[in-house]
Amino acid sequence: MPVRLEIEGGSRLEGHVAVGGAKNAALPALAASLLTAEPVVLENLPRLADVTTISRLLELLGGEFSREPDGATRVQVPRLRSHEAPYELVSTMRASVLVLGPLLARTGVARVALPGGCAIGLRPIDQHLKGLQRLGADIGIENGFVEARASRLKGCRVTLDLVTVTGTENLIMAAVLAEGTTVIENAAREPEVVDLARLLQAMGARIDGAGTERMEILGVSELGGCRHRVIPDRIEAGTLLVAGAITGGDVTVTNAVPRHLSALLAKLEEAGVLLEVAEDRIRCRGPERLRPADLITSPFPGFPTDMQAQMMSLLGLADGLSRITETIFENRFMHAAELNRMGARIETDGATALVRGVMHYQGAPVMATDLRASASLVLAGLAARGRTEVSRVYHLDRGYEALEAKLQGLGAQIWRIP
Ligand code: EPZ
Repeated sequence: MPVRLEIEGGSRLEGHVAVGGAKNAALPALAASLLTAEPVVLENLPRLADVTTISRLLELLGGEFSREPDGATRVQVPRLRSHEAPYELVSTMRASVLVLGPLLARTGVARVALPGGCAIGLRPIDQHLKGLQRLGADIGIENGFVEARASRLKGCRVTLDLVTVTGTENLIMAAVLAEGTTVIENAAREPEVVDLARLLQAMGARIDGAGTERMEILGVSELGGCRHRVIPDRIEAGTLLVAGAITGGDVTVTNAVPRHLSALLAKLEEAGVLLEVAEDRIRCRGPERLRPADLITSPFPGFPTDMQAQMMSLLGLADGLSRITETIFENRFMHAAELNRMGARIETDGATALVRGVMHYQGAPVMATDLRASASLVLAGLAARGRTEVSRVYHLDRGYEALEAKLQGLGAQIWRIP
């Protein structure tokens, strides 16, 4: 019997819980270690399946890993042993494409398997490739691989057709060692992009405008090592807040950065959740009955698509009709069908989901389809009457470090069944 989570719903969650390091900051930070032959020391890396996957990829490329006495991760790529990101790794984690920019910048050669689509959408990388071509790379697609070559990348103006987080990150990591200045227009503004820029600046890169839609990067001849602490995971923080709200509990999330979550916090308050926001923590108390709220996902600082599924679980118990519009991915409502099996009343039509609140969910065996969908099912199980079994927990382990342990610490009746 594969691993699953069993949840006995109905407990009000109470207490304090600390947020771990951000998965979507850890992945580009590890890829950035390819840009220098010196050691990079990363603090606050979360222990997640995706972090393990990209670490294995870096080892294939020539990366050497060790652990510092204080628990930080030391990674060094003194020389490249390979220039290829193999299909079996890229197909398990599309963020492997983040090695494309740094490999080109460091060695002028990169062979990266094209990531297939995934459950939530096609997720092409045309913007990544177009931007790298603008910087002077020759890009070919052969046998499912991106073959990229560049004698020396040359800085230039790149205007992205749409906001892409890893597309922006790939181009920044290519531009930091390019000749001359690169301007990225329509850049992603996510906190994880800002965190990558801060890491690169600590390595000696010259970057202005991180966190705005226009970034300017002055290429340098080489980068050095550094020590960097990865930012807290805003999506884990948001998920834990929803756990407190959906159970009518009283949960304080610590090690959080409230300004990374402002769109979510506003939506939670609109839904009737009581929040107290301090410097590095957020206290969340769930109301007797939640109010409905409409939400539209959009790039930072808008409402994050990675919190859409979790909010759908919450709004499914509100006193009225909520409308959820997903503008980032074309197929990110798969959790709706599973929530309906727990008694929710959700109708999806293209990019919009209509959520008619119900009084309660019933526990049921449910199946996760992707990382954030699995989180939304766990949240519904915490609030449901009776027992919920969430299977395919490997989705959850990609992005949450020991979520059931953190929830148990708050009083949840949740167990991992091997
Ligand atoms: C990052 O994915 C995150 N992953 C995702 O988190 C997150 O959902 C997403 O950004 C949006 O915020 C990491 O940072 C590792 P995009 P990314 O490129 O960069 C289209 C999670 O749950 N697009 O910003 O792959 C794309 O199809 C994961 O932690 C193109 O068309 O997302 C999507 O519809 C899931 N062409 C939209 O843009 C391109 O070249 C946004 O994608 C690139 C993207």
